[in-house]
Amino acid sequence: MSGEVAIVTGAGQGLGAAEATALAAAGYRVVLNDLPGPALDETLANIRKNGGEAVASPGDIGEWSTAQALLSTAIGTFGGLDVLVNNAGVLRDRMIFAMSEQEWDTVIRVHLRGHFLTTRLATAHWRDTSKREGRPAYARIINTASEAFLLGSAGQANYAAAKGGIVALTLATARGCAPYGVRANAICPRARTAMTGDLMGPPPDGKDPMAPRHVTPLVLHLAGPAGDRITGEVFVVHGGVVALLGPPTVRAVFHAATGEWTPHEVEAALSTVFTETPPKPGFVCEQTLPLADTTFGFGGSGRETR
Ligand SMILES: NC(=O)c1ccc[n+]([C@@H]2O[C@H](COP(=O)([O-])OP(=O)(O)OC[C@H]3O[C@@H](n4cnc5c(N)ncnc54)[C@H](O)[C@@H]3O)[C@@H](O)[C@H]2O)c1
Repeated sequence: MSGEVAIVTGAGQGLGAAEATALAAAGYRVVLNDLPGPALDETLANIRKNGGEAVASPGDIGEWSTAQALLSTAIGTFGGLDVLVNNAGVLRDRMIFAMSEQEWDTVIRVHLRGHFLTTRLATAHWRDTSKREGRPAYARIINTASEAFLLGSAGQANYAAAKGGIVALTLATARGCAPYGVRANAICPRARTAMTGDLMGPPPDGKDPMAPRHVTPLVLHLAGPAGDRITGEVFVVHGGVVALLGPPTVRAVFHAATGEWTPHEVEAALSTVFTETPPKPGFVCEQTLPLADTTFGFGGSGRETR
């Protein structure tokens, strides 16, 4: 790439640091966001040490002013914005019946509101640019969901809800902003980071198959020119695996004999499908779990997916 401009949130460590570093190495000029602190400074220093161009714009991604500062830094320092990677995230795991308001609000705020704020401002910028120039903008959004939304992870109602919301936000953005050139996709990554280290344990000797860097080639692809043909998609991605999810399907359709349901008729129709006691949640996708040896889903260990 030749100096296209990317924003990466949560770039202080883990996946965000890997994504920002890979984008800078590929020739993007990168605006790095994270909470203020040494981790963000370190990512910035590493990128610059390796000859990359980057600038830090620290702040809480749940604040409107942080998103504004990110966009104005991209435009003011580098002259525009081409790619937005929404990645910042936190966990506050708790069973739903014990979850505090604050645990709910924090997770929804950082993930879902954090994705919304940057998307809101970036898409308005791209819409203006596209109208002014009379052609679609170069505009890529890569959002970060999680397999937790596919599974409905039991101890992560806040996180699964935020990630499901991010997928819906991605689709609505892809549809609503297509005329202005915007391409919006979501990734469900798996990587050994501070967020998942306890669950995944230490890396094996030698190459770590779950290192965050394995996620970056897909991010680069979606950010790059070929990403123009990809929008409103959801990927699962980790060491050597990229899985493209299909849309939910209609599982069964029932028609009322008279065109209008009675409770009795509903029972007669649905009881042909729901025969198991106790019932298992039906709107769940577990197909992605066996895609890596290092897995931590519902199977076996009973552990949650991050
Ligand atoms: N690691 C995995 O296996 C995995 C799986 C699925 C989804 N994800 C998602 O990937 C993203 C990155 O996760 P990670 O594994 O690298 O975790 P991580 O904890 O290593 O990194 C998250 C980063 O987000 C930053 N952050 C937190 N709150 C912030 C705020 N309010 N404002 C700005 N920055 C903030 C943190 O400081 C940190 O640097 C998250 O959205 C996470 O939910 C990760």
